[in-house]
Amino acid sequence: MSAIFINEKAGISKNYSDPGFSSLSFHRKLPGYFPSPLRMSPAAAERLGAGRVLVKDESDRFGLPSFKILGASYAIYTELISRGRISEPQWDSMDELILLCRDVLPHGFVTATDGNHGRGVARTAAWLGVEAEVFVPEGTVAARIRGIESEGATVKVIPGDYDDAVEAAASRAGEDLWLIQDTAWPGYESVPAAIVHGYSTIMLEMEEQLAALKSPDPDLVAVQIGVGSLAAAVTGHFRSRRSKRTPVIVGVESESAACAYESARVGEIVTVPGPHRSVMAGLNCGTLSNLAWPVIRDGTDIFVTVTDEDAFEAMRILAGDGIVSGESGSAGLAGVAALFRDDGAREALESMGLGPEPGVLLISTEGITDPVLYQRVVNPPGQ
Ligand SMILES: Cc1ncc(COP(=O)(O)O)c(C=O)c1O
Repeated sequence: MSAIFINEKAGISKNYSDPGFSSLSFHRKLPGYFPSPLRMSPAAAERLGAGRVLVKDESDRFGLPSFKILGASYAIYTELISRGRISEPQWDSMDELILLCRDVLPHGFVTATDGNHGRGVARTAAWLGVEAEVFVPEGTVAARIRGIESEGATVKVIPGDYDDAVEAAASRAGEDLWLIQDTAWPGYESVPAAIVHGYSTIMLEMEEQLAALKSPDPDLVAVQIGVGSLAAAVTGHFRSRRSKRTPVIVGVESESAACAYESARVGEIVTVPGPHRSVMAGLNCGTLSNLAWPVIRDGTDIFVTVTDEDAFEAMRILAGDGIVSGESGSAGLAGVAALFRDDGAREALESMGLGPEPGVLLISTEGITDPVLYQRVVNPPGQ
């Protein structure tokens, strides 16, 4: 059963300050860049009864199966600048960036992850030729650990949940081993703020793609919430497009780690204690980033939680349209489906101005990160 919270206070989101250069112009210079595709999903539109469903497909970002490297790479770059290691950088390729910073790099980076962010940090470290230590909570699927190790990083499994892994990574960090974490707490904010900025590349690309398709703007946008950094980027983007109408913004979480839903209900950051055992590993976070919270609180119209089964159904629907979407990746569709089958939520959506056949934008935030589970869900044996 999904839990739904209509946020009467939505509509006055804060924005992040502009760092002075666009994350998109940064990402364009990295090896193997191309914009992630914006795909149509007629099967999802039919399932939802929507006019059209567009899916920003993040299953192949620089050859990695999730969007997360957008934040990790950008934050590492901005750290090099803000720590004074490089200034006024002029470069056009990774080789040139390496030449600029090879004598001023730290020994390496450390982070905690449920899989995807850690792999993004590990890949960026490998590009720069430094080390990465990546801490994961116990229970992390072996394929995700192997994925991080395949980038040359060292992985350490930490007893407890994601929050425990973050604490372990933060205590390991030092002068020569920089913490690159995607969640903020008092006193640790510049890196996670840059990570949010890095994610905005998704929206900057999407604006160009919508314009090229001559597609109307979406009426509803769904975003998955783990620590909330992605949601802060998405919400901040749509709430700050002053010349355009803001779509209804839906925040989607796993029912077992619904920290944004709980925080919105209570009106302050609430930790949902672990262990968080959803297969939606990217959403297994018990505490919101304190930078993301005000943006999410003021900007999200509806919070909805979904079960693993809901995510499985969404994975199959998207697979039917040739969109390879993993458990956390499909959760957005699962969340919108849960809202559209709930009478109270439908009424609330109508009062927010949503018409009978809305245009829906989903972000499929990951492709296959657990191949065994993906095959079991999408191509079950005997079918
Ligand atoms: C695939 C995927 N989707 C969504 C999220 C949620 O992002 P955030 O933690 O910034 O809320 C994550 C986080 O790891 C993820 O890996």
